[in-house]
This record gives sequence, C-alpha cells and structure tokens, in this order.
Amino acid sequence: MHGSPDIARLPGRSGEVDARSTPRATGMIVVVESEPTLARQLLAVEPSAVVIDDLGALRDHLACHPGTDIVVAGPSTPLDDVLRLSTELRVTRPGVGVVLVRPSLDTELVISALRAGVRDVVKTEDADGLRGALTRARAVAAALRQRDASAVDGATSRGVVVTVFSTKGGCGKTTLACNLAATLAAGGRNDVCLVDLDLNFGDVAVVLRLMPARSLADAAPYSLDIDLPAVETLLTRHSAGLYTLPAPIDPHTAETISAGLVGRVLRLLTRRFAFVVVDTPPAFTDPVLTAFDQSDLIALVATLDLPAVRSLRATLDTLQALKIPTERLRVVLNRADSKVGLSASDVETTVTFPISAHVPSSRDVPASVNRGVPLVLEETDHPVSAAIRTFAREHVLPLRADGELIPAALRSDRRWFARRRRR
Ligand SMILES: Nc1ncnc2c1ncn2[C@@H]1O[C@H](COP(=O)(O)OP(=O)(O)OP(=O)(O)O)[C@@H](O)[C@H]1O
Ligand SMILES: [Mg+2]
Repeated sequence: MHGSPDIARLPGRSGEVDARSTPRATGMIVVVESEPTLARQLLAVEPSAVVIDDLGALRDHLACHPGTDIVVAGPSTPLDDVLRLSTELRVTRPGVGVVLVRPSLDTELVISALRAGVRDVVKTEDADGLRGALTRARAVAAALRQRDASAVDGATSRGVVVTVFSTKGGCGKTTLACNLAATLAAGGRNDVCLVDLDLNFGDVAVVLRLMPARSLADAAPYSLDIDLPAVETLLTRHSAGLYTLPAPIDPHTAETISAGLVGRVLRLLTRRFAFVVVDTPPAFTDPVLTAFDQSDLIALVATLDLPAVRSLRATLDTLQALKIPTERLRVVLNRADSKVGLSASDVETTVTFPISAHVPSSRDVPASVNRGVPLVLEETDHPVSAAIRTFAREHVLPLRADGELIPAALRSDRRWFARRRRR
C-alpha cells in the first residue's frame, strides 16, 4: 500500500468524534487504527474513510452516525475486542460490516473471525484484497438497506397518523397537536411521536420547552435512503413518554426538506410509534400534502370568527378535490365558548360539516405554554384537557385495532372504547 493523506485533518479522528455533528448519509466507512502509518496505508485504499483511534471511540461514533456501513479494524486493534464488537454488531447493527486487517493470517484466526460475524479478513499489505473486501461489504450493506426499505413500504402493522391543520394562522394547531400527543403518550409507553412540519416557523420545541440537538433538516443529507435508526437519532424525547421530531432550528434549511423525504420519514415513524401526530403551518405546502396522504385522521382546527370559518370551508373543498376521504376529516372548534356573535351551530351550518370537538377558551392555555408543560399533563381535570382527551378517546384511539395500546390515563374508558369498536 502507498499514499499518505493527512489523517490528522480527517473528521473522525479520535477525540473529535462529535455526537452532535450532522450524520452523513449511508455508506460511511470507518477505519479503526491508532498507528498513523498503518492508518495512512488503509486510507490510501479508501480515502473517504473516517479514522478513529480505538473501539471505545468507535462505539460513540456508531451511536450517532447510523449511516455507517463498514468498520475496518486495523492491524493494531486488539483482536479479542474486535471479535467481541463484531458479535455484538451482528445483533444490534446487522447493517454494519466488519472487515478485519491483520499482519498475518492463519486458519484459526479466519475461522474465529467469521464465527464472530466478521465479513472479511485481509492481510495488512494486501491493498487489492482490502479493496475487494470493501466492495463486497458495500454490496451487502446496500442489499440490507434495500430489504429494510421494502419492509417499510410493505409493512402491514403501522402506527396511526393524525395531522392537525388549518389555513388560518394562530387558531390553535400547535396547542392541539402538543396536547393531543401528550394525551396519547400519557401512559408513558414511549410510543407517540409529534412531528413539526411547520418547517419555517415551527414552535413545538418552544411549546414543550425542548432544546433539540437535531431536527428534520438533519434528515436532508440522507435523502430517500434514510432508515429508522437514522430517523431515531433526530428525535428529542419529552418527559411524558413522548418523542418529537422538531422543525429545523435554522428556518433557512427548510427548503432542503423535500416532500419525498417527509413521506419516507413519516412512514418510518409509523413503524416505530403507535401514534404519530403532525403539526403543520397554515398553508398547503408539499410536506403537508404528503402528510395528508399518509394521515388516518386530519383534525381541522377552526375558531368562531368569519375568516376562520371561510378558510375551513375552503379547506374542506380543497381536501375533497384532493380526494382525501371525508371520513378521515374531523373539525375541532377551538375557543368554542368565545362570545363573538357566531355559534358552533352557525359554523356547522355554514361549512356543512359536523364539529367533533369543542375546546374551550382559557388563559391557562398560554400560561401553560409559558411554563413549557402541556396543559393536559399539568391540569388533567381542566376543561381544555378534558375536551382534548375526549377527542383522543372518541376519534383517535378507535383507529388502533389493538386495544392494549390505550394509554393508562385513558384506560378507564375502555368499556366505552369496546362499545364503539363493536358499532
Ligand atoms: N383554547 C385556547 N384558549 C386560550 N388560548 C389559546 C387556546 N388555544 C390556543 N391559544 C393560544 O393562541 C395562540 C396561538 O395558538 P397556536 O400557536 O396553537 O396556534 P397555531 O394555529 O399553531 O398558530 P400558527 O398558525 O402560527 O402556527 C397561542 O398563544 C396559544 O396559547
Ligand atoms: Mg403553530
């Protein structure tokens, strides 16, 4: 082998592994080698590889770079440790292939390596052998990814997607989305995800007082290759068994998120979560249309004012033109008790659509936002919490065939749920 790229400048150099750095798309190759001359030799074969000093740093790297496909264990890496790691990876990250490079090979070494799930064993000086091993490992990684992608597309059991929408700004979409997601997650089962598709001005993270390290924008480099482990690294956990996929921290990156990517991410999330709640901007953006396509339920939020009612009617017409089945639509009247001249039945008559939930107005709602805790978690008996819980129970939970997924907080209503499913 020959050639000498400057390994000191390479991004994955041990000690510089940054858990918050943007993970690269799939296909990343990591060389584990502490001896600079040997590392240079290996890099000459695969200059795009990231060099890491030891297996401890490699574990950190793998945890935050789900796009890693191949680990090349260099000659100075302790053999027993490599074999242990390879055995582990076979179960935890079957998509990662380990290629072992040793100064000399014997039958016993090759057999124990293959038993531990190592994909290939190559001699240190054999640059062509390493090149071939990398080509084979890449092919296996691509085939596994393809299999995962087909599994996602053909998955039979999937979580329920609920999108909260209105073309009218400020009518309570984020309030409903956050409180609905928190209600569904109240059992602490960690199976609810709230996705913020208000890509430019999303404030789910602010409302839930989260400090996300990653967002949907970090999914962009993966393009449509993204898989579930990669999506999971983008999530921020909220205390109440609720995960969030926040909107981009830098709104300028919103343009990098394609509707196709949003569709793929939502599909992957439904494999992992029983409920995926989607908050939206007040417009029919491409990502929103994609979310509609995948939604089992679309909650249309309105308030008691003429512009909101007009925009609701126009939205219902648009959704009909988009051939979204009417039975998937629900109207939620927010601030339903406001005395502003219009009544709830005026709204129903004007839009010719029934109202499924009446959420009262309360100054406790903005106060709970200022405290960073959804009202449904802080004051379970509050009329706003009760209205949102009733909506969840009557309209969202029945979409799950599996009664076991009813959150503990709603389980007392189980008989009601069973009755409804029989209808
Ligand atoms: N039922 C309610 N009672 C009192 N205040 C409410 C209620 N629902 C929402 N609000 C308040 O109204 C404001 C707007 O609500 P929210 O952010 O949920 O609207 P939005 O539709 O998501 O807005 P945008 O279109 O800007 O995303 C917030 O200050 C929120 O606290
Ligand atoms: Mg909002």
